[in-house]
Amino acid sequence: MAEKHFPYEIKNVTEEEDKLVKQYYKGYIRPFIRVGPHGHFSMAGYGDHAAEIYNLEVRPDDIWVLAFSRSGTTWLQELVWLLKNNLDYDGAANTLLTKRFAFIEYPTMSSEINQGPPPSGKSGQATVDDFSNLHTLPSPRFIKTHLPLSLLPPTLLDTAKVFYIARDPRDVAVSFHFMHKLFRYFDEGVQFTEFWELFKKDLLLHMPIFPHIEEAWEKRDHPNMTFVFYEEMQKDLRGVIDKVSLVLGKEYTDEQKDKLAEHLNFNNMKKSSAFKFGKDDKDSEIKFMRKGLSGNWVKYFNTDQLKREAEEYMEKHLNKTSLRFPEA
Ligand code: A3P
Repeated sequence: MAEKHFPYEIKNVTEEEDKLVKQYYKGYIRPFIRVGPHGHFSMAGYGDHAAEIYNLEVRPDDIWVLAFSRSGTTWLQELVWLLKNNLDYDGAANTLLTKRFAFIEYPTMSSEINQGPPPSGKSGQATVDDFSNLHTLPSPRFIKTHLPLSLLPPTLLDTAKVFYIARDPRDVAVSFHFMHKLFRYFDEGVQFTEFWELFKKDLLLHMPIFPHIEEAWEKRDHPNMTFVFYEEMQKDLRGVIDKVSLVLGKEYTDEQKDKLAEHLNFNNMKKSSAFKFGKDDKDSEIKFMRKGLSGNWVKYFNTDQLKREAEEYMEKHLNKTSLRFPEA
């Protein structure tokens, strides 16, 4: 088979960085890598398949949902799927979201010691389909990825509809910290301050976050790109429902849209057995549907130093872009 074209170098992180991250990410043998124009951090397994993913064939009727992890991907997936599927609540209830969407790069994140994909939620599987069998799936395909646009097929945006959700990186950092424990990437004892050190150095899965969002933000006016903010969904879910309906060419009554907004309400989604996974203990934050709030990061950046660092982090990145997160 002809070698697939992949325009980027796949580089190992430095030995020092690798030593540091392996104190946290357990079970990985090969060095962690950085790929692409912004040094996307990942497990070596992604490097094995980066070219294959970059060369996936995109279909015009595909629906792609893109996001940095913990930015509201699941929330947007549920919204998009229901709007596209004529509000088929039974279908949604009877088929896990992990089956309705192919999470393309998921198996590339497997640990090399424990084998198999990283542990996941209630179904025990974070996805049923992925890049390896995507070509076999019937249309329309629903595809989820946490990869940045630059590492996805270059034909993507000119071919298929893309939905991107962005969230304030400080709220993402907090949620990502608990997600690392939920999916057992990290031990439960790891403190937020330790996690934040890795976050600042982009030594976490999918980092760096700002270029991830900016790549999509720069394409926000492309007719196939629908860019939404988590904070916007919090404040004006009905507005986002209207926006996505229009893009999908669907018309629903106000009553139908109200019902969908109710279905997508945090407390309602939280009750659903499909999304209810994580620690049973009601006070534990190691849960998939954890808090569902915007601006709650202030509770975790709870020392003067952390507060200052969060401010500096945001300033440094926002200085270089027109991207602004809506007020929480
Ligand atoms: P928190 O950990 O802050 O609660 P993703 O799906 O990208 O992994 O994002 C998960 C985050 O989205 C979690 O954030 C989760 O609670 C939140 N979320 C999921 N469904 C939501 C909803 N219906 N309303 C508000 N937040 C939601």
